[in-house]
Amino acid sequence: MKQNTTFALRGNLLDGTSPTQIHFLDNYYLVCENGQVAGIFPRLPQKYAGLQVENWEGRLIIPGLVDLHTHAPQYPFRGLGMDLELLDWLNARTFPEESRYADPAYAQRAYQLFVEDLKSSATTRACIFATVHPEGTLLLMRLLEATGMVTRVGKVNMDRNCPEGLRELSAEASLAATRKWLEGCVGFSHTRPILTPRFIPSCSDPLLEGLSALQRETGLPVQSHLSENPSEVEWVRQLCPDAIGYGDAYLRRGLLGGLGCPTIMAHCVYSDAAERRLLREQGVWVAHCPQSNTNLTSGIAPARAFLEEGVPMGLGSDLAGGHTLSILRAIADTVQVSKLRWRLQDSAYRPLTFPEAFWLATAGGGSFFGRVGRLQPGYAFDVVVLDDSAYPHPQQLNSLERLERLCYLCSDDRQVVVRKFVEGNPVAGSPPASL
Ligand code: GUN
Ligand code: FE
Repeated sequence: MKQNTTFALRGNLLDGTSPTQIHFLDNYYLVCENGQVAGIFPRLPQKYAGLQVENWEGRLIIPGLVDLHTHAPQYPFRGLGMDLELLDWLNARTFPEESRYADPAYAQRAYQLFVEDLKSSATTRACIFATVHPEGTLLLMRLLEATGMVTRVGKVNMDRNCPEGLRELSAEASLAATRKWLEGCVGFSHTRPILTPRFIPSCSDPLLEGLSALQRETGLPVQSHLSENPSEVEWVRQLCPDAIGYGDAYLRRGLLGGLGCPTIMAHCVYSDAAERRLLREQGVWVAHCPQSNTNLTSGIAPARAFLEEGVPMGLGSDLAGGHTLSILRAIADTVQVSKLRWRLQDSAYRPLTFPEAFWLATAGGGSFFGRVGRLQPGYAFDVVVLDDSAYPHPQQLNSLERLERLCYLCSDDRQVVVRKFVEGNPVAGSPPASL
């Protein structure tokens, strides 16, 4: 949905101008036309005389943040079960909770909480796993559509290695449910489907091959999990003796990117040089999920290697492996875990800097959606205004220092996001009182 109104925000603009640099321009005007950034000016040019301006003087204005990987139905148990590793945690926490979404009344209640919090967060776009249930997935999509955010949402496929009640009864049944869900995806303007095989242990070969055929038929993008945790990687090695690695197993089943198949793989903690090359060649986006990788004792992904080797990458909250949906927090986590990897595991790869992590959260993940994640003419007007006045400081800090500090200090996006636009449409907050 594009809006035709032209307006401007005034405040301290911060933009990643390259993967290693953030520029800031204090009290500049950011003009929106037709849902896109039209220009950045120290004073409004004559042609914009009389333009409606939201004056956020002194506030931090950034590109909206992108969550490339999260699970909406896991929001209710965030912060619980955090003493378990991935496979035990799936059985003990995830599958029992996801079973509840067969009940539309429960799904409505639970998804509402998630969508309300996502709406008030600094996230403007997201790629989201739902559950196996077509009805519940459509319900989530309708709630998201009403927010004005841009999302890709997936009905999960799984026909093996999960409890009865949640397991789809055959590959054919899973594919039929997927088609039924896709037929229901009508009337949405900024909430779109994405094919979502959970991961190889949950999906039989006929199911993965059927989804690959459906992908070629529909051109839909794909999201899944890859090389997350040692016991999962070992399980996939046993399940797929034909493959030389986990990524290769997806490739052989026609589900690892390539032309006409935009794909996100979450985690990629154990992607060795050969798998990283495969991801780059196939143009697969890595969703780096540092908080989840810490909570589920999965490990630390080789983010520096992905950056140096040119693998597309963004950040993911991976609720509820991750305990918060905040991508501001994911930025700080990205820097922190990269230091541990460098110190403890692999001194060949320097830690990531704050501007690099910010780039991943904006332009990195944004590239999955097109021209998204920069405050530059021609990019979508996805913009967030942050108020850091709850964290006073006695010394002078510049806008970049204030932003960096906020990523570490802020424990809840709702306390700092005062305004949010997606494609030029207001999604959260209200105009400043001075208007
Ligand atoms: N692998 C398969 N399913 C999941 C999930 O729900 N969360 C995470 N973190 N990894 C998974
Ligand atoms: Fe996940």
